[in-house]
Amino acid sequence: MSVLIPNTLGLEARTDNYFEYAGEGELAACLANAPKPWLPVGAGSNLLFSKPQFEGSVFRCTDTSWETSFGSGYVRVRVGAGMRWDDFVRLCVDNGWYGAENLSLIPGDVGAAAVQNIGAYGAEAGNLVSSVEVYDTEEGLSRVFFPDECEYDYRSSIFKKSGKRYFVLKVVFKLSLIPAFRLEYGNLRAMVEGEPTLQKVRDAVIATRQSKLPDPEVIGSAGSFFMNPVVSREQFEALKAAYPEMPSYPAAGGVKLSAGWLIDRAGCKEMSVGDAAVYEKHALIIVNRGHASGGDVLQLASEIIEKVESAFGVRLRPEVETV
Ligand code: EPU
Repeated sequence: MSVLIPNTLGLEARTDNYFEYAGEGELAACLANAPKPWLPVGAGSNLLFSKPQFEGSVFRCTDTSWETSFGSGYVRVRVGAGMRWDDFVRLCVDNGWYGAENLSLIPGDVGAAAVQNIGAYGAEAGNLVSSVEVYDTEEGLSRVFFPDECEYDYRSSIFKKSGKRYFVLKVVFKLSLIPAFRLEYGNLRAMVEGEPTLQKVRDAVIATRQSKLPDPEVIGSAGSFFMNPVVSREQFEALKAAYPEMPSYPAAGGVKLSAGWLIDRAGCKEMSVGDAAVYEKHALIIVNRGHASGGDVLQLASEIIEKVESAFGVRLRPEVETV
């Protein structure tokens, strides 16, 4: 039976082989009969389907359970990969657990958050991870990755780099019971009135996101379409001399530039291909205004890449994964 594959870009994408699993046993049973390639999905918030039919098998984890264990000054929360990421953040905020609040309202599931190392407002999911329990589809057994094995980097991890070898079953997060906030990013501090609390920070992050990012329930998008590029210090100095107002951030191996700013200044804000368009409030986002195809989105993305490269000599790389 043909099933629509969830994806926040709102692209028409179907599969004849759709499986849901709650744990290792069910997953192993599904895999035994599943045609390859195998694609694990959460909410599909970082996926671009290039064709209307996916010739392979799609798997979704339905485990939304959670359990806690407390230590001195911290709590470990073991969460099923299928819990919505923002439900997890709300759970933390409601219980007085510190660390996840800056990551409020990011679309997607917990499993994908651990693969993608989602980040916002100076925080990254990888920094909260205590361990990741996966099913290794090559070896046919489950295993645990500890933080020093996860290879967390900007929007990257060993899970992302290993193709679709590892399917996340559970993620264990470590959160602080001792109040600590990260408010240095952008105008976050100014948006929190008086003494910060978890709820006030969550509300401020939600208000900021809602003011510039499209609500995937209303208009299709995959969040930031491109990663913020890291360039050499020499290239940065040359660009900064020409564009003194250009935003930049320190980064390992060079200087991180703002892809949104580069796309905006390269004059891409009005660009569209079919129903795929640059979002008017944030140039880093490609939206589906109605019936865009995966091909429309890919063509628009490649036109943006070319325009930015010819204006600034910087080649953007998509954050979104094409399948
Ligand atoms: N900017 C423009 N024009 C635009 C958009 C942005 O000039 O059209 C400028 C802004 O004025 C600002 C700079 O670009 O000076 C950076 O913009 P912003 O603060 O919105 O952050 P970003 O670097 O574009 C990143 C993440 C977002 C995350 C925000 C907040 C990436 C690829 N994106 O965006 O994550 O929410 O920081 O922390 O790292 C996502 O990954 O899907 C995502 C939404």
